[in-house]
Amino acid sequence: MTERYDLTVIIPTFNEEENIAAIIEAVNGVFSENGINGEVLVVDDSSKDRTISTVQGIAGRRENVRLIVRKEDHGLSQSVVEGFGEARSEILQVIDADFSHPPELIPRFYEAVRDGADIAIGSRYMKGGDIEQWPLKRRVISLGATAFGRMLFPEVTDPVSGFFAVRREVVAGAPLAPRGYKILMEVLGRGRWRSFVEIPFVFKDREEGESKLRADTIVDYLRQCAGIILFAATRRAGPVYNEWTKIVRFGLVGLSGIFVNMGLLYALTEIAGLYYLISAAIAIELSIVNNFVWNDVWTFKSARDLRFGRRVQRLASFQAVSVGGLVINMAVLYALADVAGVYYLAANLVGIFVAFAWNYVVNRHYTWKNL
Ligand code: GDD
Ligand code: MN
Repeated sequence: MTERYDLTVIIPTFNEEENIAAIIEAVNGVFSENGINGEVLVVDDSSKDRTISTVQGIAGRRENVRLIVRKEDHGLSQSVVEGFGEARSEILQVIDADFSHPPELIPRFYEAVRDGADIAIGSRYMKGGDIEQWPLKRRVISLGATAFGRMLFPEVTDPVSGFFAVRREVVAGAPLAPRGYKILMEVLGRGRWRSFVEIPFVFKDREEGESKLRADTIVDYLRQCAGIILFAATRRAGPVYNEWTKIVRFGLVGLSGIFVNMGLLYALTEIAGLYYLISAAIAIELSIVNNFVWNDVWTFKSARDLRFGRRVQRLASFQAVSVGGLVINMAVLYALADVAGVYYLAANLVGIFVAFAWNYVVNRHYTWKNL
């Protein structure tokens, strides 16, 4: 019974009488054009307009259209989670009713999850994605919220997107605490997933009706982020915890490298009597090797292939990335200090930070890519 369909498209609604018939028709059109055996599940929060009667009419004519009318615990995230529980398929897609999310892209999300991804995320903030017709204020708030969310999920460019698909096992039985607008954050933070893909899309502001976003949405959002951080910290598990463990370890290894570097520079110059620039070259190289070893056996130990050849490959890659980091560090230092007139020690701090980000991201994705 539960697997009657290939895909369930969940449409949360609150007062969407201008859009709901058209979006259901569009989704059904996408199903038939692409040979998808899909159902449409409208989850309504007791709309005051004609949304409910409109959907009832359509559901009477079309077997694959269903309506849930909620009476309690009003909220977008809660509605979506209720839809997860009611869906009769393995793959669940969430889409807004107001055509902000292009329904033509649904097959791409469906295929991504069918072909192995646990989550497919529609992203406005990757190449090919964009936002149309948003007032500056909304853009700024959304960028801030997204930036905050990205600190929890550094790998995801749009963790607050409302357009995504997910495999049912990811959310079934997961301790989701839905509240507010950002259900995807909850799925990412507490769902059981390993892999995701992002699909760029252009978000178009609604032409009919109005946004239900209110000022207290921001407060809800901050509380939600705090909840996810607490969850990661207390469970010591999950994607947020895993990624941040790596970042912290990588940072600590970097610190150990500074000690190795300084210690060797001192010892080689003062004790072995080498010219200090020669000592420095040796010290830099050995600190890179030090960092490599610790990152290989500790930070990224889950991504290790123990064969000797692979190890050498990783060392070579790490070495190249480190040299790139050094160049970036110096370029930032020069640009800020010499061109912008920033005090050189402050400029160097910024340089270290940028180089650290570069080193982490490139090594995480390239040197130790089997994560
Ligand atoms: N059931 C239910 N309950 N549905 C709701 C509620 C609610 O309390 N509030 C809004 N909806 C429905 C709307 O009817 C619409 O289908 C969808 O949820 C999105 O609501 P909008 O009010 O149009 O949201 P938005 O355009 O401001 O925000 C969108 O963009 C955000 C990213 O910036 C949504 O897609 C958000 O999910 C997304 O985070
Ligand atoms: Mn909208």
